[in-house]
Formats: sequence, C-alpha cells, structure tokens
Amino acid sequence: MFLTIALLCVLNALAAFAQLSGSVGPTTSRASKQATICSVLSYGGSVGSSDIGPAIQSAFNNCVLTNKGSTLYIPPGNYNMATWVTLKGATQWALQLDGIITRTATTGGHMIVVQNANDFEMWSSTSAGAIQGNGYQCRNAGPRLLRIITSENFSLHDLIFVDSPEFHVIIDNSSNGELYNLAIRGADIGGSDGIDLSGSNVWVHDVEVTNRDECVTIKNPSSNHQIERIWCNQSGGSAIGSLGSGTTIENILYRNIYTNGGDQMFMIKTNGGDGYVRNVVLDQFLGLGTAYGLDIDEFWSSASTAPGNGVVLSDITFSNWNGYITDGSRRSAYRVLCPSAAPCTDITISDVYLWAENNAGTYACESAYGSGACLQSGSGSGYSQVTTSYTKPAAYVSPTALSGNLASGFATNSPIPIPTIPTTFYPGLPQISPLAKNSGGGATPTSTGSSSGSTSGTAAQYAQCGGIGYTGPTTCASPYTCTYTNDYYSQCI
Ligand SMILES: *[C@@H]1O[C@H](CO)[C@@H](O)[C@H](O)[C@H]1NC(C)=O
Ligand SMILES: *[C@@H]1O[C@H](CO)[C@@H](O)[C@H](O)[C@H]1NC(C)=O
Ligand SMILES: *[C@@H]1O[C@H](CO)[C@@H](O)[C@H](O)[C@H]1NC(C)=O
Repeated sequence: MFLTIALLCVLNALAAFAQLSGSVGPTTSRASKQATICSVLSYGGSVGSSDIGPAIQSAFNNCVLTNKGSTLYIPPGNYNMATWVTLKGATQWALQLDGIITRTATTGGHMIVVQNANDFEMWSSTSAGAIQGNGYQCRNAGPRLLRIITSENFSLHDLIFVDSPEFHVIIDNSSNGELYNLAIRGADIGGSDGIDLSGSNVWVHDVEVTNRDECVTIKNPSSNHQIERIWCNQSGGSAIGSLGSGTTIENILYRNIYTNGGDQMFMIKTNGGDGYVRNVVLDQFLGLGTAYGLDIDEFWSSASTAPGNGVVLSDITFSNWNGYITDGSRRSAYRVLCPSAAPCTDITISDVYLWAENNAGTYACESAYGSGACLQSGSGSGYSQVTTSYTKPAAYVSPTALSGNLASGFATNSPIPIPTIPTTFYPGLPQISPLAKNSGGGATPTSTGSSSGSTSGTAAQYAQCGGIGYTGPTTCASPYTCTYTNDYYSQCI
C-alpha cells in the first residue's frame, strides 16, 4: 500500500516534469516508407562521386516526390558533395544515409535543407552515416550541414555530423520531432553550434556534442521541448538563447545533462528585448571543469542589445545539480543577473551543489527573486548585483568522470576524425533507444510515432512498452521492467 502510494507520487512528479505536448516522430512505420527505394545510384550517383548533390536532388524530385512511401537511399561508401540540396514538400518518406558525405565546395547556406516534410525519418541503418564538413579548410566561411525547416512528425537519428565550417544541425520552427543517437564533433571555436532548436514538441535525447559553442540549445520561438541524456564532451555548453525582441519560450525540460569542460553547465542568455521565458525545469545536471556553472545572464554581451525592457524570466527551476567550475575567484558558480526593468521571479535553486577547482565560491544575484543561492524572496523591483561568498556545500561530491571524456577540444586547423556514436550519454543511464545497428538495422521501430506493433507478446530489453499512442506489448521479457520515461515513452530496462 505504502509502496503503491510512493510509486504514484514518483510517477506524478515525473509526469509534472514531462514537457512534451503530444507524440513525436514519424506517424507511420519505417516499413511504410520502403515501398519505393530511391537510391542515388539510380539517379546519376556513384560511390566515390566527386559531387553527389545532383543525384540526391534528382532522386528526391523524380522518385520521392512522385512516390509516397519512399526512401531516398545513400548506400555505404564515400561521396564528395559540392552542390547543396533542398528537399522540400514530401510526405511519408525517409532519408537513409548509410554512406559518408564530405563537403568540398565553400558555398554558404546548408548542404542539406529538408523543408515542409511530414511523417519523415532521417537516419542511418548502420549508425555510421555521416556528413564530414572539413571545416578546417574554410572556418566560418562555408555551409552549415543540415537544416530541417517547418517540418512535422519527424525523427533524426543514428547519424554523425563532423567539423561543420559553421553550425552543424538546425531544427527550425518544426514540431513533433524526435532527435536521438547523434554524435556531433566540431572544432574548439565559436560558431560551431551542435543543435539549435526552435518550434514545438521536440524530444532530443542521447546526443554527444564536442565544439566550442552551443551544445543542444533552444532558440526562439519554442515550446514543449524535452532534452535529456546529453553529453557535452568539451562543448560550449547548452543554453536557451540568445534572446531579444518578441521572445516566447515556455514548457521546457532539460534533464540528465552531462557537461565535461566548456563554457557553462547551462545558460539563459538575453540582452534587452521583450517577451518571456517561463516554466523551465533544469534537473539532474553534472558538470566537470566548466568556466561558468548555473548562469542566467540577461546582460549577455556577445549579443547586441535589443530594444525593450528585457525578456521576463519566471518559473525557472534548477534542481539536483552537482559540479565544479574551474575558477571560483574569477566567476560566480551561481549567477542570476536580471534587468531592473524586468526582474526574474519564481526562480528555484534546489539541491544544486556547485564548487570550484580553486576552492573559492561566490553567488551573484541581481533583480532576481525566488529561493536558493542569493535570490531574494517574494517579488519586487530591481536591485543591484549582490555577490556573496559561500563555503563548499556539505552535499557536494565530485561528479563521476565518464570514460571517454575528452581532455581538450579539437584543433581548428586540422582534420577532425569521424567518431562512433556512443551508447551512454549520462553516467548510469542507458540510451533510451538502442543504436539502429544494434537492433537489426533498426528493424524494430523505436519511435513513439510508429503505428506498428501488437498488444500481445512481450517487449524485449530496451524496447518500448508503454506511452500515449503506443499499441504494442506492455509486458517486458524477464527480467526487465517497464520503466516510465515520459508520458509518451516507457521502456524495458
Ligand atoms: C502530425 O501528427 C499529428 C499527430 O499524429 C497530426 O495531428 C498532424 O496532423 C500531423 N501533421 C501533418 C502535417 O499531417
Ligand atoms: C512556423 O511554422 C508555421 C507552420 O507550422 C508557420 O505558420 C509560421 O509562419 C512559421 N514561422 C516562421 C517564423 O517561419
Ligand atoms: C569524448 O571524446 C573522446 C576523445 O575523442 C572520445 O574518446 C569519447 O568517445 C568521446 N565521448 C563520446 C561520448 O563520444
């Protein structure tokens, strides 16, 4: 009885955290996208091609667009690419990249744009498909790798993005998406964003990023995103921002975010502007040797000041953090700096234990209200920055080092090798869906949007076993237990 009540409480607490607003991922099964295989090899492409771009565009125009239920297939092998493609307006299709595409031209824009896609899956069945940007040859003066624009009901998974001349992956104003099992490896320099995300109802999980800019970052406008099990392995760090005029961001959950080195454990960055960021939960973060820790900076000097009194931040919760910054004398591990004309309210800092390698700790608060650190209680008008020293929190423990943590980032002027996609992204937690290569080339549908499945039988280890819209087996094969992840996904672990 007590156990049942305790369990219900835990489930309720988790449900309150889940920020997705509906199912994510493609609405039909992978098999229903394989009625027609549109291989680039049938549309003028060849393995070893000096420019696979025209064959990709031709396979899309002449095969995908004319055959609902098709897969644009790029088989294993190496391809150069010098002509960028825009794949616009298809429904119920897949882009299966099992080969490696290497950028050769320096034209700006994006190597691959997917636009107005619906019921779409972009993936690699070998978990080894990659785009190599060789950004060291044209640093910040070439294309970005992938942009998905105003698309719906999609997934992006089991792919590797390396050394983009500029940003790696941009999800632009898209909804009902699932991004998972991705490795992104850029150079140790600004302008190398990992994933920039705007839109609504997108679930990002099990992603590793190395670079010196955004890890997995939310841009305006955004609502109902859930970001979890992220390994920022020598990355700039994750953030919301930078934000200016007309900001509308709400219902965001980040959880199980592991940041090794880099700029911050998490940052909300604005400079002037207006609008709001509200109902954000940042739960279970680990940080090792970042420059900043918990960082709300509404005077973000790297962005120019937008007109307005400032973006209003409210109902932001930081809970269950552990980590250390490098230099607590130079920087405050806890910073909540808000504009006097738009104070922050309902900020909660709870069970957040941050320390510094040089054993110095300060909090900095300005025009910020709530509980924890140096926040003032209640609400009120703006106040000047107050910096307070603190001693090492009794509950602080040095976070676990994951094997494979990078000691430093990658050089900006030499090639970056293509990594493999890891299977763990946060200490002690398995990945939510197995790599496609470990599940029979992804024969088992892993996304919650899949319509296949049957209620009889048992679900295997790591398989889905519950969630809104799920119709497959809800009992796990022994000895696994059906474990709640969010309202849309439970898994046998
Ligand atoms: C995406 O899926 C949702 C839920 O299944 C559905 O309501 C919506 O119409 C789909 N979007 C499009 C463009 O079909
Ligand atoms: C975002 O997408 C919606 C359709 O989903 C569209 O109506 C709107 O104009 C788009 N906004 C921008 C800024 O592209
Ligand atoms: C982090 O980088 C190191 C060094 O390249 C690598 O060995 C390790 O696998 C990376 N971690 C992940 C999760 O890829």
